[in-house]
Amino acid sequence: MHMSTTPPLYRRLATHYRGAIEAGSLRPGERMPSLRNLMRLHDISLSTALQLCRTLESDGWAEARDRSGYFVRQPKRLRMAPMDEPPAGQRPDPAQYVGIHARVSAFVAQRRAAEIKLNLSIARAAPQLYPAEALRSGMSRALRLRPELLAGVPPLQGDPAFRAVLAKRTLAAGMTLAPEDVLVTNGCIEALNLALRAVAKPGDTIAVESPTFYGLLQVLESLGLRALEIPTSPQTGLSIEALDLALQTYDDIKAVVVIPHLQNPLGSVMPDAHKQRLVRLCERHGIALIEDDTYSELLDVDSAPRAIKSWDKASANGNVIHCASLHKILAPGMRLGWIAAGRWQPRVEMLKYAQTRNNEVLSQIGAGEFMATGAYDRHLRRLRTALAGQRERTAEAIARYFPAGTRLNLPNGGLQLWVELPGGLSSERLFDAALREGILVAPGWLFSNTARTDHFLRLNCGWPYDDALDTGLRRLGALAAGSTRSD
Ligand SMILES: Cc1ncc(COP(=O)(O)O)c(C=O)c1O
Repeated sequence: MHMSTTPPLYRRLATHYRGAIEAGSLRPGERMPSLRNLMRLHDISLSTALQLCRTLESDGWAEARDRSGYFVRQPKRLRMAPMDEPPAGQRPDPAQYVGIHARVSAFVAQRRAAEIKLNLSIARAAPQLYPAEALRSGMSRALRLRPELLAGVPPLQGDPAFRAVLAKRTLAAGMTLAPEDVLVTNGCIEALNLALRAVAKPGDTIAVESPTFYGLLQVLESLGLRALEIPTSPQTGLSIEALDLALQTYDDIKAVVVIPHLQNPLGSVMPDAHKQRLVRLCERHGIALIEDDTYSELLDVDSAPRAIKSWDKASANGNVIHCASLHKILAPGMRLGWIAAGRWQPRVEMLKYAQTRNNEVLSQIGAGEFMATGAYDRHLRRLRTALAGQRERTAEAIARYFPAGTRLNLPNGGLQLWVELPGGLSSERLFDAALREGILVAPGWLFSNTARTDHFLRLNCGWPYDDALDTGLRRLGALAAGSTRSD
């Protein structure tokens, strides 16, 4: 399980040296221990010592100098200021709601009309970072041995073995779910649709983080629900105080949706104490708490973070709805997600039946078999390691190429960076200018009904860092600098 996985030795040592550099015990310009010393100090081979130094180098923490070994470098990104916290006492304003469909449609239309050379707008890793071959062979085997799979009708709730694997893995996040508590869905997006339809009706208000994943804003709008945007910290996620204030002020809030780990787009991670307070607050006000767990497995921590649902006590009658997905972590092509809806589970199953019937079963069998072996954790470990390097290098490129005053918080995992442009520079102008050159970014205005995110953009870090990506980021930085000057 995620709990028992550890990164490779050279990566752990790289993290150790990075910590020493951040803490100042190794200073910029200072020489790193020689390869021979590293071998002796850590009892490692020459190739591990070399991998360690190359990792520090590619992450921007060290540089090789001709014949004299490796030296500590101060990553430029450390000189970038972190983002501001939302102002305390800010009262969420329902009048800000304008709907997001028109913005998303405009974004999609512009994207379709352009010739995209570099797509930084998505939140997904490169295809080669997913275990396609292992999944393919599992699915082919299943089809060879059980051709009746195509002719029979699969169970509505999903393949039993797959649900059992999913339920078992939730133990690491502190949940105790039986396979029957899990319903397989068409990605997390269907899980969210079902959760919202189960707890609210058109015209109701749903509290969400601000900014948040534009897909969620679209779901709300398409169901006739109104989003109430709650101030959210780029570090610790949803402001519990602001939600409390909103719940005291408005009585038509039916649910709150949060992305506790690696929030999209902020990358924030909610501390356990906040999760616990949130659970109690929602219980007290009798509103549903919907947890979107799309990114937990991508968090760079030693043990799996606790799910909000792990605090959902039977006495509260299952007030937390847990929605999750394998889309970002296992196989974007399979569209597999799931939901554990607590006391709303029967209603959610009825809605799923009415809406889409069962999911097809072959991909569930392929995913379930793969996830039941150690290969799944090895895959996740490799994915997290690759993403860590890509995030570091993308953040470093932003620090190097973007205009002074650009800000970002480097998240502790995940697929994306949320970048604040300096001087009120509009991300819309940058989006237009970049698109004319075939570079697609996700502009900040997709992530909120308010104008607060107009000078932000979200950049994907799922692609291996290569020359084309470096050139694209340099160009994006130059376009941002050009726009700043002409403002
Ligand atoms: C926070 C969040 N929730 C849900 C989704 C959609 O998940 P899926 O692709 O599994 O439907 C995404 C995809 O970007 C996301 O970022």
